[in-house]
Amino acid sequence: MSASATSATAPGKVILCGEHAVVYGRPAIAVPVTQVQAKVDITSAANELTIHAVNQNRTYRYTDLEPSHAIAAIIRLTLSALEIAKPPNAIITINSTIPIASGLGSGAAVSTAIVRALAKYFNRDLPTQTISDLVFQVEKIHHGTPSGIDNTVIAFERPVYFQRGPETIIKPFTVPCPFTLVVGDTGIASPTKIAVGDVRKGWEATPSHYEPLFDQCGQIAKQAYHLIESGQPESLGPLLTQNHAVLRDLTVSSPELDRLVQAALNAGALGAKLSGGGRGGNMIALVTKETASTIEQALLQAGAKRAIVTTIGDQIQSPISNL
Ligand code: PMV
Repeated sequence: MSASATSATAPGKVILCGEHAVVYGRPAIAVPVTQVQAKVDITSAANELTIHAVNQNRTYRYTDLEPSHAIAAIIRLTLSALEIAKPPNAIITINSTIPIASGLGSGAAVSTAIVRALAKYFNRDLPTQTISDLVFQVEKIHHGTPSGIDNTVIAFERPVYFQRGPETIIKPFTVPCPFTLVVGDTGIASPTKIAVGDVRKGWEATPSHYEPLFDQCGQIAKQAYHLIESGQPESLGPLLTQNHAVLRDLTVSSPELDRLVQAALNAGALGAKLSGGGRGGNMIALVTKETASTIEQALLQAGAKRAIVTTIGDQIQSPISNL
């Protein structure tokens, strides 16, 4: 039995530290950003499955989509996980406030919301790890060699320490002392696949240059994790700024990102860095509740297309054992 109407959401995310190096087995930390979200509604229809992408103002018939299309792929994978042989006669409406190709996890959030909404539509419960694994399959189609951090933080909807490996380490964690970030958007869409591909080319050409840089990112992520867990997030600032310098060495910054990072620091941020794939997209600045709006204004004046103030750790969190 399926429901006649249902909906589900998924948040955006930022990577606090360790991006790019995480693709090469170093740890990274990501946190959800609940101010932006993907929302998926499913309503029963008379015949066949159609998808209405509100942001693109387009409607597709499911059967017309290429199998590799991200939306077709996540629907197919989810139906298969739910052991449902025939796509439902329904309309899937996708609406997202997460800017695309900007490091905020828009693709993974849309996929996660689709999985959740389909499971609900069929009155089924999928474990969080299964949702994350399904979204990862689609991330692989589109990103080439994703680490898996995006699908993990978005599906778990809580801060996560992540290290890919033969035994991937996924540690969702609680934040005892909340901290505030300002997320500044360069407004430049920058597909993660290109930045990740360029880093790979560089690493293949001169691994001896790249490996120590990856190690530095990994060390920063470890130290950041300990500071957050031990309730000292205000001390994270220098680590974030140091991480930005390493990401510049990895060639994934840009003049616009550097300008926003510098503007945040000049306005009193405790630390700042690009976040995600880089070359465009978003940067983050660690601020206090008192300085947040000054730094938000400084970023907008320095050319940010928008800025979001988000506090990490004050969301109501389920106990980790319930995940
Ligand atoms: O651009 P985003 O937010 O999707 O972040 C990608 C993070 C990378 O480390 C660059 C790639 C990955 O798969 O981990």
